[in-house]
Amino acid sequence: MTAQRIDGKALAEQVLAECAAKVQDLGRRGVRPGLAVILVGDNPASRAYIGNKVKACGRVGVHSQVHEFAAGTPQAEVIARVRALNADPAIHGILVQLPLPAGLDEAAILAEVAASKDVDGFHVINRGDLLGGHTRFPPCTPAGMMRMLEHAGVDLGGKHAVVVGRSNTVGKPMALLLLGRNATVTICTSKTVDLASHTRRADVLVVAVGRPGLVTGDMIKPGAIVLDVGINRTAEGRLVGDVDFASAEQVAGHITPVPGGVGPMTVAMLVVNTIEAAAG
Ligand code: GUN
Repeated sequence: MTAQRIDGKALAEQVLAECAAKVQDLGRRGVRPGLAVILVGDNPASRAYIGNKVKACGRVGVHSQVHEFAAGTPQAEVIARVRALNADPAIHGILVQLPLPAGLDEAAILAEVAASKDVDGFHVINRGDLLGGHTRFPPCTPAGMMRMLEHAGVDLGGKHAVVVGRSNTVGKPMALLLLGRNATVTICTSKTVDLASHTRRADVLVVAVGRPGLVTGDMIKPGAIVLDVGINRTAEGRLVGDVDFASAEQVAGHITPVPGGVGPMTVAMLVVNTIEAAAG
């Protein structure tokens, strides 16, 4: 059996088409959604992600702007810009691209973003709401994966979901969203002993560690749905996920490719959240 690929690029196109229609509706009410992105330092991956976000906004009629700071910028200067954007009525969504360079306090900066403009869902209020089972701005990567599961027609009730990775951006919020749909959730980390004994029990397997080839076909339950969040560049310059695709697709029922899987959905859900923020 070869797994069915979940085409994140095609699904993201559908989501963006829905976004374009909503932007037109908002336009008739005199509202143009606006997103501000803050980039500190010169991380090439961050720059590439931001490029994709700006492009997606442009395609659906969302205004976007990028605020760039050099790596050594004092924290107070970054915070001053966040506060100015909080007060700017043309800006409905603010995103601080992570990771921030060493020397900046990520939690302190994220706490400055107005919760009502926090389209990444990283503010403590939105994280708390997510823990409480409801949030206006679910973090984009987990939200994108939930949309993929919905699209694949998965009923999560009673299913065993295993999330490998416990990051604040992906692993933890994904586990909460799955739990909210009545999945039985196991969270593993890169340090979990005998990882395969957990992953082999997963009906839904989410891998978000950042280690190429971490999960191989023999670690996957036949027919499982595998969502690969990893984006790793090989020595030859190829993009690969955390899942060894060739062996995994022989066992899984559904699988997301890298590239063209979860990545485009993250971008689409950011646009969704920005429009939600603008709709008020
Ligand atoms: N870095 C990696 N993923 C993300 C994300 O979803 N949002 C932000 N702001 N930074 C990231």
